[in-house]
Amino acid sequence: MKILAIESSCDETAAAVVEGRCQRLQVLSNIVSSQIKLHRPYGGVVPELAAREHILNILPVVQKTLSQAGLTFDRQHKPKGLGMLAVTAGPGLATSLLVGVETAKALAYAWQLPLLPINHIAGHIYSVFLADHSPDIKFPAVILTVSGGHNLLVLMTKHLAFHTIGETRDDAAGEAFDKGAKLLGLGYPGGPAIAKAATLFNPAVDPAVMPLPRPMIKDQGLDFSFSGLKTALLYALAKDQHWNKRVPAYASEYQAAIIDVLTDKTIKAAQKYKAKTVILSGGVSANELLRQKLPATLKKTCPSVNFYCPPLAYTTDNAAMIASAAYRQWPHGKKTTALNKVQIKPNWEL
Ligand code: KG4
Ligand code: ZN
Repeated sequence: MKILAIESSCDETAAAVVEGRCQRLQVLSNIVSSQIKLHRPYGGVVPELAAREHILNILPVVQKTLSQAGLTFDRQHKPKGLGMLAVTAGPGLATSLLVGVETAKALAYAWQLPLLPINHIAGHIYSVFLADHSPDIKFPAVILTVSGGHNLLVLMTKHLAFHTIGETRDDAAGEAFDKGAKLLGLGYPGGPAIAKAATLFNPAVDPAVMPLPRPMIKDQGLDFSFSGLKTALLYALAKDQHWNKRVPAYASEYQAAIIDVLTDKTIKAAQKYKAKTVILSGGVSANELLRQKLPATLKKTCPSVNFYCPPLAYTTDNAAMIASAAYRQWPHGKKTTALNKVQIKPNWEL
C-alpha cells in the first residue's frame, strides 16, 4: 500500500510517498521545503509568516513528491496505487497545521481516499521504523525524542502503546540549543550552529571555560529542565569580558551539558524499565555527538540493549515519518475518521 503524507506543523512544508509491505517500508519520495531563511532574521519561527509560506508551498511540494515517487494519474486524476493519506494534526502551530490538514482533506475528498490524522511526536518516534532494521526492533523500547518543541522519554511496550515516563519541566533540548545559540550570537537554528562552533574548540590548545551545570542529573527521576542552563550561560558570558573570543569553548561546554543530561536520563530509563531497545529521535537526534555518546554509554552500561536512531534525513521534520506512523495505524478494513471530523489539535499529547 502506498501512503501520501503531509507535514506542516512548524516551519517545514513536507510531503512524502511511502510504500508499506508487511514489516518493511520503502520511501519512494520525501520532499521538504525549508523556511529557515525566511525566519532567520527573526531568530525563531514567526507563525504568521510560516502559515503564509506553507500555503504557497504545499501544492508544489505535493506535486513534486507524487512525481518523484513515479505515480501516474488515472482518468479521474487520482494517483494510481495510492491507498491512503496521512497528515500531521498536532502538536504544532495552529495556523501552520491548518494548511496541511485542510489540504489533505481536500485531496482525500477529491480522490475518495481515507485520511489518517497523525501525532507529530508519534511521527518522530516512527522515523526509526523507516530503516531496514525495523523488523528487528524489540519491545519494551525506551525512546528519547527531542526537538525544538518536545523533550520526552517514552516507554513503548508494543507498537503504538506510548507511555510518557519523563518530560521537560520547561524548555526542550532543541529550544535550549536555539536559545544558547542566540546568546552566543550564532544564529538560527541553534542546534546545528552550536554543534558546528563546538568543532572549532580544541581542548589541547584552547583554555576551557567554567563548567556549566548538568540540570537534574543527580535527580533519580526521569524529568528534564533546561531553562536554568541557558541562564547559567547568560551569567557566564556576562562575567567574561572576552567571551566572544571563546565562542567555540562555550558552544562545546553548552552542547556537552545538554548531551550529558540527555544521555544520563535515557540510560536511567533503560535500566529502570529493562528495555531491550533504546531509540533516539527528533530534530536534536541530528546532533553528531549525541548520536555517538548515547550508544557508546549504553554499550558500557547495558551491553545487551540495542540502539537505533533514524537516518539523518529523517531526524528533523519530514513527512516520511508521518507516513511511517500512519502505516502502523492503518485500521485494516475498519472505518477511518470522517473527513469533516479530522481537525487540528495544536496541543495534542502523545
Ligand atoms: O524536529 P524538528 O525539526 O522540529 C520540531 O519538532 O521542533 O527539530 C528542530 C530542532 C531545533 O531546535 C534545532 O536546533 C534542533 O532540532 N537541531 C539540532 C541539530 N539539528 C537540529 N540540535 C542539536 N544538534 C543538531 N545538529
Ligand atoms: Zn518535529
